[in-house]
Parts: sequence; C-alpha cells; structure tokens
Amino acid sequence: MNGAPVRIGIIGCGLMGREIASAMLRYAHLLDTQARPELRAVCDVNLGNTAWFRENIPSVRQVTADYRDLLANPEIDAVYCAVPHHLHTQLYCDIIGAGKALLGEKPFGIDYAANRAILAAAAAHPDVLVRSSSEFPYFPGAMRLAERVRSGQLGHIIEAEAGFWHSSDLDPAKPINWKRQVATNGEYGCMGDLGLHVVHVPLRLGMRFETVYAQLSNIIRQRPDGQGQLVACDTWDNAQLSVRAQLGEDVFPLQLSTKRIAPGHGNTWFLRVIGTEGGVAFSTQNPKSLETMVYRPGAAQTWQREDLTYRGVYPAITGAIFEFGFSDALLQMVAAFVEEYVGHDPGFWRCVTPEETRASHQLFTGALASQRTGRAIVLDEEEMTHA
Ligand SMILES: NC(=O)c1ccc[n+]([C@@H]2O[C@H](COP(=O)([O-])OP(=O)(O)OC[C@H]3O[C@@H](n4cnc5c(N)ncnc54)[C@H](O)[C@@H]3O)[C@@H](O)[C@H]2O)c1
Repeated sequence: MNGAPVRIGIIGCGLMGREIASAMLRYAHLLDTQARPELRAVCDVNLGNTAWFRENIPSVRQVTADYRDLLANPEIDAVYCAVPHHLHTQLYCDIIGAGKALLGEKPFGIDYAANRAILAAAAAHPDVLVRSSSEFPYFPGAMRLAERVRSGQLGHIIEAEAGFWHSSDLDPAKPINWKRQVATNGEYGCMGDLGLHVVHVPLRLGMRFETVYAQLSNIIRQRPDGQGQLVACDTWDNAQLSVRAQLGEDVFPLQLSTKRIAPGHGNTWFLRVIGTEGGVAFSTQNPKSLETMVYRPGAAQTWQREDLTYRGVYPAITGAIFEFGFSDALLQMVAAFVEEYVGHDPGFWRCVTPEETRASHQLFTGALASQRTGRAIVLDEEEMTHA
C-alpha cells in the first residue's frame, strides 16, 4: 500500500468531484508513492449529488450540504474544490483560511480581482499548500514534449501554438448551464473554462506573455433553458489569442486558442513548438503519438511519429504496452498534489501554482481588453493590476 493517508474532503460533487474521487479510488494503481489520499468527507449544496459517493466510497464519513462543516472537521487535511467559478473566491479563501491544503479548479477565481483575493489568502497562509488542477500535461506525450523543449534541442524558438478545442456547443439545442452564463462562468467565457489548460505548459516552461491580440466569438447567443424558453447565452464560445511570448533570449509568436465550437473535435488538447533545430508536437487527438523533427542545415526536414508507451511521473502497475488516457492523467495529477503535500515536491511536474494562475488571469484580462479596443494589449504587471 502506498504510504501514509492524506485525509481529503471534496467540495462540489458534480462532474469533476466524481472524476477526482474515482482517481482516488484507484490509487493502488500507482507504485512507490510516499502517501495516499483517503476520501473522508464530501460536500454539495445539492445533497442528491453526494449519493454516488455514499454508495461507492466506504471511507467517506462526513456528508454535508454546508462546506463550513467540512472545513471544521479536524480529520480533513486537504480539500479538492470543484464548484462554479463565481464561488471560487469565497470557498478557496475559506479553505485556505481553515488551514486545509487546497487543490482548486481553474480558472482559480471568476476574474482577475477574484484571483488576486485568492492569491492574497494564499500569501497570508504560506504554510498551506495551494494548487490548481490541470491534468493534460501528465500525458506521456506532453511530458516528452516539455522535456524536449527544456533540453534546448529545438535551438531558438521560431513559434509555438497551444489549444484546447471541443465542439459540444455546436448543437444549438444543448440546454444552457452555468458554464454558458457570464454571471456564473465569468466574462472570460471559454478562456476561463479551458484557458488554464492551454497556458499551463507554456508557463511552466518559463514562457512569459508580453502582449496579446484577441479575437473572441460569441457564435450561439441563445439556448433553451429546459422549460421551453430561450435564454441568453452570453459567454464567448471561441477565443483566438495572438501572443508575443518570450523564453530565455527568444521572442516569438505564440498562438493560443480555446474553442467550445470546433467542429470535428471531441476534446482536443494540443501543443506544438517549432525551433531552428527541430520541432515537437503532441495532441490528445492522437494520444499515443509524439511528432518530432530534428533539423540540421542541408539535411532532410522530416517529421517522425513515435508510438508512445505508458509512462507517468509516478510509475504504475500498467504495462508499458498499454495506452494512457484521461483518467490516468488525472490520477498522476492527484498524486503530484498528494506527494507535494507530504513534502515530496514533484518539481517541474507539480500542479499549477497560484503565480501561474495569476499569469493566466493577466492574459485573459488583456484578451478582453483587446477584444473591446481592437488593439494588442501590453501585459504589464502594474497596469494589469488596476484593470
Ligand atoms: N480539470 C478539468 O478538466 C475540469 C473539467 C471540467 C470542469 N472543471 C472545473 O471544475 C469546477 C467545477 O466544474 P464541474 O464541471 O464539476 O461542475 P458541475 O456543475 O458538474 O459541479 C459543480 C458542483 O458544485 C456544487 N455546488 C455549487 N455550489 C456549491 C457550494 N456552495 N457548496 C458545495 N457545492 C456546491 C453543485 O451542486 C455541483 O454539484 C469548475 O471550476 C470548472 O471550471 C475542470
């Protein structure tokens, strides 16, 4: 059995609450971790959403509709919180204030002011581990891509592109939900929903975003409310951000896109970096494939495709010949959080830090300003703080 138990509470028992709980249930899948999560408490304002947890997870001892009950529980070490974006500030600050480690969800505050409030709470409690979820970098292909960029093998960076595209919103009959309304999802729209996934690896690689020019689209403006009425769907569906980025001495164009309406895409997270001596590309559309090119002057410029084997930050019982998928990435991310909590810092592979969420908010706030003004926006720390 993996190490000592870290006692977890989950606040928000919807889509992601269940996914993370399921990852914890299969933790024995991992080998050689120093600790293991034990789900002890769950909270949802809609108690009906806790039924699945009560029925499937015997370690759950506390079920409550009031998150303050969970925070008052001395038997909880850490909290995973997955609630609508307008609740992030209140709940994240209260979790941190209660001295519980926090694995929060993106966008880590509904807007830049909300994010700053969460970061202030984290700064006031420096002993509390505060991280945000973002699982896609734990795919073997994404890991290999990051390693290749970090090795310097690409030479000088010419350009890079990252995106997260799906198309569930192409159906105009899809009913409205909190993620499609500014009041609960935030003005960022699809950027708040998908954007931290897109910027996580670029930021972790050390890229700095200097300027942004944004094109945001609101394609489907009304949706059925489930009671026969059409209501406003006022969030941005798609965002294309043209960023001037800097890494080391290289300054280059970085194209970032988040799309809820990308016909043909189910759930595609991708990243591509092109340099003067080579390139590397990975997409979850072909989750077993890593594309690489090594370029030498005068030699052929040939992209190669490597069939990837199962590999994670943390070794698992799965044989190398088997495929790695979304739930494996989520499990690896949970392990990165739990291991860091017990003092085994995964270094480059740690979960998203509060400072990285701040950089993402600067970018998305700049993108909104760019859309309003039709101009590129300088992402200056001082100016953005007062945006
Ligand atoms: N990492 C990922 O891949 C990923 C994917 C989807 C969503 N998310 C993020 O996860 C968060 C939640 O999204 P979701 O898809 O799970 O939403 P969801 O609507 O499926 O679940 C949210 C849950 O929170 C509950 N809730 C609302 N207010 C509450 C409160 N005050 N106390 C306790 N529970 C409360 C709701 O009843 C609901 O069950 C968001 O921040 C979202 O951006 C992350």
